[in-house]
Amino acid sequence: MAPTPVQLQPNPLDRARALTPELAWGTADDDIAAIERLKRERNAIVLAHNYMTPDVFHGVADVQGDSLGLARRAAETSADVIVMAGVHFMAETAKITCPDKTVLIPDLEAGCSLASSITAEDVRGLRARYPGVPVVTYVNTSAEVKAETDICCTSSNAVQVVESLGADRVLFLPDRYLGSYVASQTDVEIINWDGSCEVHERFTGDELRVYRAEIPGIEIIAHPECPPDVLAEADYVGSTAGMITWVSEHRPERVVMVTECSMSDNVAAELPDVEFVKPCNLCPHMKRITLAKIRTALETNTHEVVVDPDVAARALVPIERMLAVG
Ligand code: 13P
Ligand code: SF4
Repeated sequence: MAPTPVQLQPNPLDRARALTPELAWGTADDDIAAIERLKRERNAIVLAHNYMTPDVFHGVADVQGDSLGLARRAAETSADVIVMAGVHFMAETAKITCPDKTVLIPDLEAGCSLASSITAEDVRGLRARYPGVPVVTYVNTSAEVKAETDICCTSSNAVQVVESLGADRVLFLPDRYLGSYVASQTDVEIINWDGSCEVHERFTGDELRVYRAEIPGIEIIAHPECPPDVLAEADYVGSTAGMITWVSEHRPERVVMVTECSMSDNVAAELPDVEFVKPCNLCPHMKRITLAKIRTALETNTHEVVVDPDVAARALVPIERMLAVG
């Protein structure tokens, strides 16, 4: 009798190919091989945010993570060149923590609605209006805004950072939804700015209640940039990395990750036993970063991220304070 053929366990990249036929897989292998060669030649690494498409995330990332994880790994790397497969504020944070390294962003237009909602002038105005109140700033901001603030935070450490200050109230900038989530978790009074994420603000509690009613056993996990009525429906609230850890540990039969939808594709490629229900809100800024642009970035040394040295020195202080908190 012929032996039963061994069923090889496909790797995440192969599974991602099957799960996302809409991506440019036709040219992916060529781009991935070129990027790997360029990384070796230039002593470069690719840091990829969890919202990258799976060809980038599983194809060329040396480090995968949330904003906090990427900031930490940028600060630690011995590479000469860092390619940020993420948005501009993430590349700026890497440049601020590694001023002597070359930091490249494959598309200069990869912005963020939160980062563009507030300026350094706005922060100075708030300080004048609320003298003595410490300023906590989400990393989704420009270097100039960080330079005006006391301490940074990300979605994974925001409550810890706010409580680390020992103040009765803090200015929390610029995401009003993350701010109201933090307010629900602490006794510290939160004074919010009126920014929001154009991706997460589109989710609604109503759509999640429909999932609950129609999909038996569905687990709902959400990013804290979502509005409060969305978070009220969630079984877990956390950063992108926190959500991935939660799914990896809990292995729900079915889950909806209420966040940018490429993340579900990335995790689905690793966890074939979990069914991902996917309301597909994409971040147009993250989606500007493609394999082809990462290849061009390494080939042509573009676009180099430049931060004014005085601004960078001032912005480093709140970033380092945050990294010291956790
Ligand atoms: P995380 O820090 O959770 O990765 O969030 C970054 C972000 O831009 C979410 O929209
Ligand atoms: Fe900014 Fe929202 Fe895009 Fe994250 S998902 S980078 S917060 S616009």
